[in-house]
Amino acid sequence: MPEKTDLYGLTYSKFSEDSLAQVRLEAYGPDIGQNSWTLKSEYEGFLQDLGLGAGRRLLDVACGAGGPALFSARTTGCAVVGVDISGNGIQTATRLASEAGLSDRVTFQVLDANSTLPFHDGTFDAIICVDAFIHLQDRLVVLNDWRRLLKPKGRVVFTDSAVVTGLITNEEIAIRSPNAKCVFSPPGNDERLLRDSGFQLLRMTDSTTAMAGIAGARHSARARHEEGLVALEGKQLFSGFQRFLDCVQRLAAERRLSRFVFLAERL
Ligand SMILES: C[S@@+](CC[C@H](N)C(=O)[O-])C[C@H]1O[C@@H](n2cnc3c(N)ncnc32)[C@H](O)[C@@H]1O
Repeated sequence: MPEKTDLYGLTYSKFSEDSLAQVRLEAYGPDIGQNSWTLKSEYEGFLQDLGLGAGRRLLDVACGAGGPALFSARTTGCAVVGVDISGNGIQTATRLASEAGLSDRVTFQVLDANSTLPFHDGTFDAIICVDAFIHLQDRLVVLNDWRRLLKPKGRVVFTDSAVVTGLITNEEIAIRSPNAKCVFSPPGNDERLLRDSGFQLLRMTDSTTAMAGIAGARHSARARHEEGLVALEGKQLFSGFQRFLDCVQRLAAERRLSRFVFLAERL
């Protein structure tokens, strides 16, 4: 097997470069610094579902370069702790928090979210994890820990972008998992794990069609900025990423790999 490229790390180290910022703007519309299958409008819905406001504390699991965490703090007044395994992501997020004058309310730490996290019981009112559940394998451990970290009646929103809802080839699985461990789950598995870890599922939304649209839009925007992106990423990585986006778009459009949004409450 070839070495996996740290695509997330590379993206986050150059997150503020013009071509990447321009691609986000063209692909997502309003750019909230996301690196996911989420538009600003969907993310605003998440914040509403989580009941965030001043005095509340949010944990953003796998926060990437911190854009959505900063957006959460800015728009709701809440405090946020963001964690991610990418050192480059956390470095960029910390810089952006400082530039935004939000370092007193929004902090970031390098942590592996695939295990228990070093925070006290009941530290948070809400947890959000957008498009990173695919990277979490020990899900019962993770969900039990999220339950521990939440206050009673605390809420969680997470998305699973890799629910297998059709036939997928080994080649497609390889293209869909270019840069990190990826876990593909059968329908019903996340719901069962939520129940087993003491959460009540409040709502599950199928957002597969939106994922197909966003993957297609990212692919087209990147193609328009090929020259600038190749200068940042190199030709091989650029082509690999395009292949990845094309694969996500096709699998989602054909409803073979689906994305679900889960909203749950701690019992
Ligand atoms: C698709 S990105 C989503 C980032 C962010 N949530 C957003 O919406 O922009 C997935 C993120 O998961 C992070 N990640 C992957 N494995 C992880 C792990 N074991 N622990 C913490 N973060 C992880 C990656 O570094 C990456 O930032």
